[in-house]
Amino acid sequence: MNDVLIDVKNLKKYFPTGTKGQYVKAVDDVTFQIKRGETLGVVGESGCGKSTTGRLVLRLLEKTDGQILYDGTDLSRIKRKEMRSMRSRMQIIFQDPYASLDPRKTVFQTLCEPFQIHYPQMSREEMIEKVARLVDCVGLRPEHITRYPHEFSGGQRQRIGIARAIALNPDFIVCDEPVSALDVSIQAQVINLMQDLKEEFNLTYMFISHDLRIIKHLCDRVMVMYLGNVVEIGSKEAIYEKRRHPYTEALLSAIPNIKDKDAGKRIILEGDIPSPVNPPSGCPFHPRCSKCMEICKKEKPKLKTMEDGTQVACHLELK
Ligand SMILES: Nc1ncnc2c1ncn2[C@@H]1O[C@H](COP(=O)(O)OP(=O)(O)O)[C@@H](O)[C@H]1O
Ligand code: SF4
Ligand SMILES: [Mg+2]
Repeated sequence: MNDVLIDVKNLKKYFPTGTKGQYVKAVDDVTFQIKRGETLGVVGESGCGKSTTGRLVLRLLEKTDGQILYDGTDLSRIKRKEMRSMRSRMQIIFQDPYASLDPRKTVFQTLCEPFQIHYPQMSREEMIEKVARLVDCVGLRPEHITRYPHEFSGGQRQRIGIARAIALNPDFIVCDEPVSALDVSIQAQVINLMQDLKEEFNLTYMFISHDLRIIKHLCDRVMVMYLGNVVEIGSKEAIYEKRRHPYTEALLSAIPNIKDKDAGKRIILEGDIPSPVNPPSGCPFHPRCSKCMEICKKEKPKLKTMEDGTQVACHLELK
């Protein structure tokens, strides 16, 4: 058993724009690992490549270049049949459960589906038993199984989405903004459920969110992305306390009420996020960085490892 569950090296995803030779560089050379049992938070402004990275890891999207090892296995090199069994080990929870649930299917039908696909021989009795257990696990009531998605609240629908994700007893789940569409009062309940399930089923999460407070609450390590690149990755403590990368510092300065040495000094990022079709030369953050130096405009900084293990892509002398 590998200690590292997800091992991503130099991953790229370029989407064609329709104009010949022009691409959206959604993910541009991303390297990171996720250890078994941990929750890796992924943060960064909208459009920086978080969802694309998550989908690439699950092979819901084909990469342009790079390598993804899942528990030591290169998913792009295995046969279709093996991929099918791998599929059951990795799942995704989407932001909008309403869009990801079939409105014509009852909870029972939705939750039977994974079993029908992966265990076509399973008896109806066993399926009923499995679905009943799932519904119980996510805090829904037995009578809910005959109902349709529109009969539920947003939080309950996300519980159905979570039940579907854990149905096949996976070891890895990409959670793509799973509570962003929910009322703040409901968010905590769903997050607590996800944390309980993580313990109960020994899950590993890649948790994508733009809510830095939720990330702080939930994650062991945090990866900060900017324009398709990883600019900083490290333990939650290192990211939130040291905030070495100027972009990390700017992102975190925008959260009110987080206790820190610079509380109150909000850094306003000037300018729009550049287009991932024509990313800036050198450091992708340089047009918006208050610490930009000459070298930053020319040379793209590589990830450097600090003493505490944090990796930072920046030309500044950081420790
Ligand atoms: N299927 C696609 N075709 C073309 N461009 C895409 C596609 N999916 C995402 N993109 C672009 O890739 C970039 C990264 O998108 P995404 O991964 O969804 O970012 P995030 O989840 O961080 O908001 C954005 O510029 C987005 O418009
Ligand atoms: S490399 Fe230069 S421009 Fe980029 S974040 Fe560091 S200081 Fe700013
Ligand atoms: Mg997204």
